[in-house]
Amino acid sequence: MMSGETPVSNPSELFQIDADRGIFRVARRCFTDRELFAQEQKKIFNTCWLYVGHESEVREPRSFQTRLVGGREIIFNRDSNGVVNAFFNSCPHRGGKICPERSGKSGTFYCAYHGWSFRSSGEVLKIPGRNDYHPTYNDDGSANMVKVPRLENYRGIYFLNYDPNAIPLSDYLGRAKEFLDNQLDQFDEPEIVQGTQEYAIKANWKVLAENSVDGNHGDYLHSTFFEYARNIMPPELKGKAKGANNFVGTSVDLGNGHAVLNFEMILGRASGIWSPLWGEEVKPEIEANYQKIVARMGEERAWELVRKSRNLLIFPNLMLVDSTGLTFRSFNPDSEGFMQVSSNCMVDRNESPGVRKVRLNAFIEFLGAGGFGTTDDVEVMEQLQRSYEANGDSMPWNDMSKGPLGATGGSFDIEVPLRAFWIEWAKRMGVAMDPAGMPNISEAAE
Ligand code: FES
Ligand code: FE
Repeated sequence: MMSGETPVSNPSELFQIDADRGIFRVARRCFTDRELFAQEQKKIFNTCWLYVGHESEVREPRSFQTRLVGGREIIFNRDSNGVVNAFFNSCPHRGGKICPERSGKSGTFYCAYHGWSFRSSGEVLKIPGRNDYHPTYNDDGSANMVKVPRLENYRGIYFLNYDPNAIPLSDYLGRAKEFLDNQLDQFDEPEIVQGTQEYAIKANWKVLAENSVDGNHGDYLHSTFFEYARNIMPPELKGKAKGANNFVGTSVDLGNGHAVLNFEMILGRASGIWSPLWGEEVKPEIEANYQKIVARMGEERAWELVRKSRNLLIFPNLMLVDSTGLTFRSFNPDSEGFMQVSSNCMVDRNESPGVRKVRLNAFIEFLGAGGFGTTDDVEVMEQLQRSYEANGDSMPWNDMSKGPLGATGGSFDIEVPLRAFWIEWAKRMGVAMDPAGMPNISEAAE
């Protein structure tokens, strides 16, 4: 299928679903079609809650971060009154970039094109040649910086929405909040450590969404690293994993396209399970960190928080990987075949240097741009994209039929989370649903 040919009009061209035979397939065209990509911008990225950043990144008044959120440049800041804002990084005059820096601290923003300047709260401060404008100019505030329509946070994690009529963030997150709580409760005072890892992948953004909650690939694609890590763990901490299975856990469809892989961790946790990989010297600090969580949360909850790892996908483009440490990974599509990824590490503001070191090393070692995991994944994802582009006409379908259709949870390695993602994608793209909650392939789209 050539790019740009057919919009979402016939769901049977996008999905192949046979409940009796347990078949769920998605057209490879969904990764290569330019028209579908354009529709995703409107129907998904302009209507879903999208991750912007964490409150700790704008802790001080006048601190700011600039980032790409759903394909648009955004300024995320705390103004001099202490209010957290998200502005379009686009000048109300003629569209110049108001803030070219990545991060910093400033009470004013300045557009380099014609020299307009703005307060950190967005009001225009100075317009060169102001006397040449009508005296009432900007009485309506139209020369001020423009805020995104909605900005809300859950426990300090800020999301924006370009749709003023979107449902509240809390409702959008729904059941995902339980797993977010399990991630955040490991921290006394969570903060995003400075420094972002950024890289690009020559693949459609949905390939990474799938990969992030694909519990079916770790035992194969990353087998060398996981087997090594597991084999050096003390027997009492190896968990129930055995044989070829490095992972024991569950996969859950959390609704609204969110999904989680919830599993026993085999790599050790900065929060409280020491690994021989880190050296004896940090063992007492890891143990002390665990005792802090016990003191805060109680023995039973602390063990649940620390023993389990959670890979949580917040639809559409935020992945929270809670393994040795906690990584926030968001991805932004540039085109149907290219995305930009940015990754940050959450730490505990009050933790000891040894625990901090373990977290930062883990951030780089497995999930970092050059880490053991990411390099495997990126190579495969680019290979997939090339295959979809080259062979889509002869091999049009991607299969994700593993595990009972309609199930909302099950073992770690079934494809429930992938189907959860695609069903939400279909709904938002206007595909009608059948009574079983599956894309209705005999109905025309809205
Ligand atoms: Fe910003 Fe003109 S575009 S001052
Ligand atoms: Fe992977």
